[in-house]
Amino acid sequence: MSFSASEIADALRQQAAYCKGLGSPLNAGLLEVLAEEAVPGAEWLHDLETIEGGLMEGAISIRVMGAFHRRVLDFPEIPLAGYYASVGGRFESDYDAARFEESVRSLLSEHAAFLPQFIRHPPQTNEVARAAGLVAGLLEVARLFGRPFRLLEIGASGGLNQAFDQYGYRFETPSRAATWGSLESSVQLAPGWQGGTPVVSAPLEVSERGACDIAPLDIRDEAVRRRLEAYIWGDQLERLNRLRGAMEIGRHLDVLPDSAGAAEWLAEKLPARSEAEPCVVFHSIMWQYMSANDQAEIARMIESAGRKTQTGNPLAWLRIEPPSPVELPEVRLRIWPGGEERLVGHAHPHGLSYRWQGWGG
Ligand SMILES: C[S@@+](CC[C@H](N)C(=O)[O-])C[C@H]1O[C@@H](n2cnc3c(N)ncnc32)[C@H](O)[C@@H]1O
Repeated sequence: MSFSASEIADALRQQAAYCKGLGSPLNAGLLEVLAEEAVPGAEWLHDLETIEGGLMEGAISIRVMGAFHRRVLDFPEIPLAGYYASVGGRFESDYDAARFEESVRSLLSEHAAFLPQFIRHPPQTNEVARAAGLVAGLLEVARLFGRPFRLLEIGASGGLNQAFDQYGYRFETPSRAATWGSLESSVQLAPGWQGGTPVVSAPLEVSERGACDIAPLDIRDEAVRRRLEAYIWGDQLERLNRLRGAMEIGRHLDVLPDSAGAAEWLAEKLPARSEAEPCVVFHSIMWQYMSANDQAEIARMIESAGRKTQTGNPLAWLRIEPPSPVELPEVRLRIWPGGEERLVGHAHPHGLSYRWQGWGG
């Protein structure tokens, strides 16, 4: 597929608006300058024009932001680095626009040295802060099941959610605070929290855990870790530190997901319910990447397993997924026997904040 300069400029501007809304003025500023530079005949565009997939589906802007961030992380002495919190810089609201533009253009003039090799990879992320939604949801399940369960995660990327109980959590509202997990850990999650706090005394114990991804990221590999770091937005230092902490924990544990599509993996892992233990199937921000066939097949498989449950071997389906790509992710929980589904919360797309209703009484 080949894109024109003006199509690329539009995609960059669209992502700039998205970054602004999601708290990354730095990337909004970067993409706006790049959109101005996306003119017919510009040499740096050659590398972008033939990226696989549509402009948004191929995530051109995410690739470019990642490439620039990696360059800054590798060369923190360059002028653009002065704007990146990830290397000690700052992007102030009253920044000098002309100087900022100059620092972007100067890096763009070296594009051949870093852009092509970074952007040929499709972007892939693993957001550690989504583990807070996972834990809040699992605490509801623990309260309802009252016994240990197996945890099956699909679309787990680098498997960082698999180490959820190695992290510490603080769920705090103006009137209440509750903590859970490993409060000495280097990874502490304290997302913005509205609504009820989870019942942290519930017996959350996982008897067995497993995960799959169609393209698992092996975080034991340094090149993989460097790419994951680069996709973090450069003005979001806490997010970068969380990722680094979680990768450090994960690389010493066996969190590498099985390499398999979700449908085939679940077909093997969701056992006949007569021999089953209590079980939770979980996924976050992966549903939209599957074909409609796979989505229907997975829903059918889980529902069929659910219908065969009895009180001794309940099943839960916990998911953090947006109802459409432009809406906020919902946290939904469905429980069998019975198959009742409830909306238990809403999540920020990166898991940075939650509005929590919980399952209720
Ligand atoms: C946006 S990432 C989210 C990763 C992780 N769940 C998180 O919340 O950080 C989406 C993941 O879904 C995986 N994926 C896409 N299609 C899949 C499929 N059919 N089966 C399994 N994994 C899939 C991708 O490889 C990618 O790792």
